Amino acid sequence: MQQLLVRPENMKRIDTPALAQAYIDEQVAAIREQVGDSKVLLALSGGVDSSVVAALLIRAIGDKLVAVHVNHGLLRKGEPEQVIEVFRNQMHANLIYVDAVDRFLDKLAGVSDPETKRKIIGKEFIEVFAEEARKLTGIKFLAQGTIWPDILESEAGIKAHHNAGGLPKDLSFELVEPVRILFKDEVRMVGKTLGLPDSMVYRQPFPGPGLGVRCVGAITRDRLEAVRESDAILREEFAAAGLQGKVWQYFTVVPDMKSTGIRDGKRTDDWMVIIRAVNSVDAVTASIEEVPYALLLKIRDRIFKEVKGVNRVLYDLSSKPLATIEYE
Ligand code: XMP
Repeated sequence: MQQLLVRPENMKRIDTPALAQAYIDEQVAAIREQVGDSKVLLALSGGVDSSVVAALLIRAIGDKLVAVHVNHGLLRKGEPEQVIEVFRNQMHANLIYVDAVDRFLDKLAGVSDPETKRKIIGKEFIEVFAEEARKLTGIKFLAQGTIWPDILESEAGIKAHHNAGGLPKDLSFELVEPVRILFKDEVRMVGKTLGLPDSMVYRQPFPGPGLGVRCVGAITRDRLEAVRESDAILREEFAAAGLQGKVWQYFTVVPDMKSTGIRDGKRTDDWMVIIRAVNSVDAVTASIEEVPYALLLKIRDRIFKEVKGVNRVLYDLSSKPLATIEYE
């Protein structure tokens, strides 16, 4: 069977586990037919799309899938560990974990321009992934988590989608794109039916450059830790308050700016943590979530107690427009 490249006009929305199971069975057969005995390479970020593609390929071809997880140091707290736990320990995937944290942070040191930061992260990612690919033999295929909105946006000229594409010329693979014709909600339904954890399947949007765009300005390791730790506290407290899955996107930001404070009777110069929580349908516009005041105070107290180098917590009241969702 050939992989379906275009979503049929009359395709029923996959909104039940039974429909998801039928899709999985169809794709497992299609993947086996397409790749035969060859190995398939996948850049597994741990995001929804690449995770669902990994789970589908593991179901279809087991350890002939070689999944590469690059830790660029800009992931949220616990994410690399979750990728290893779910894919290596539970699904027995052939997973290569690459600790590239120093490499990325060294390249980013002193770089404050947002677009330059994004370019460095994108370029370095391709380089690390290509290096891993060159160490392997017998790979003929590259799996990608392209989804139907990516195709529509590319066609409309809104976004150029590369996913793990953009690889050097000597690395040319045939593509395997088993969720290409699905909408995001369908990808989630397929992922859930494949047994992926809810925390992976229903995760809030997270930018490719990760915490790098929330550590505003030139990234330093200590300020990046402040972003990561405060983000973890925010996510924990939102989950405990029942807001996980209800609020579209929420995170913390630590700008490259200090202000005066006082701790143990002494003057301090420390950072500020900005809390942002927004609701949106398509990320084109966004309104702010009216987070209960008591919850904000609880989050503030935990940030002051648990996050080093912070003396101020702020709540961002800006909708989009005029502000964008991310800070850079
Ligand atoms: P903005 O900040 O433009 O964000 O209002 C809209 C949505 O896109 C996400 N975002 C990104 N996603 N790479 C991504 O993959 C990026 O560089 C990037 N910048 C923003 C953002 O988190 C929000 O959901």
